[in-house]
Amino acid sequence: MNIRTAEFVISNTEVMKCPQDGRPEYAFIGRSNVGKSSLINMLTGRKGLAMTSSTPGKTQLINHFIINDEWYLVDLPGYGYAQRGKKGREKIEEIIRLYIERRDSLTCLFVLIDSRHEAQQIDLEFMEYLGENGIPFSIIFTKTDKISNSRLNENVEKYKAGLLETWEELPPVFFTSSEHKKGRDEVLNYIEEINRTTEE
Ligand code: GTP
Ligand code: MG
Repeated sequence: MNIRTAEFVISNTEVMKCPQDGRPEYAFIGRSNVGKSSLINMLTGRKGLAMTSSTPGKTQLINHFIINDEWYLVDLPGYGYAQRGKKGREKIEEIIRLYIERRDSLTCLFVLIDSRHEAQQIDLEFMEYLGENGIPFSIIFTKTDKISNSRLNENVEKYKAGLLETWEELPPVFFTSSEHKKGRDEVLNYIEEINRTTEE
């Protein structure tokens, strides 16, 4: 897919204040620091579009970006960031939960997983929660430039085994590196395909 335009629209904490034009939307979620904002910049080819940081907890709002005037990319805050304190973490988790459960135009949620780590309970539980709520999602393994292919395969196989304990089939899986622009075409083509089928 050709990205002609990518523009910031609005940031907010409330799902009710998100754009109401009903255009399809694709959101990025995952633990803090997993690379959600970096991936949005990589996909759009606009380096400073979404704000990134080497310190976890950078994104604290729901951020909408409109792509080609047709669909939205949404950068969400990360979950599971302990240093924010219990109150701060609960507030962020509430923002995420309400967005996920109430956002009717959410077409696909991409769950980002740091490919360097073995299966994490918090991510598996989060995906279980998505399943219970009927939220369509796909998985993206990020930062693949930081790990060897053999380690990557090991980690991914363990994840799949963990998922198959509760799921009969696996969601679509992608591999990305924002550093090396890996996985860009795969993710964008997937979005394009969904946009095409939902238009019909
Ligand atoms: P929060 O907003 O805090 O939840 O984090 P985030 O998930 O948006 O992560 P962000 O994109 O801010 O990236 C966190 C750190 O990881 C930054 O230092 C990025 O440069 C780095 N990073 C992100 N993606 C990649 C990648 O594909 N490869 C490498 N090597 N580093 C990455
Ligand atoms: Mg971020």
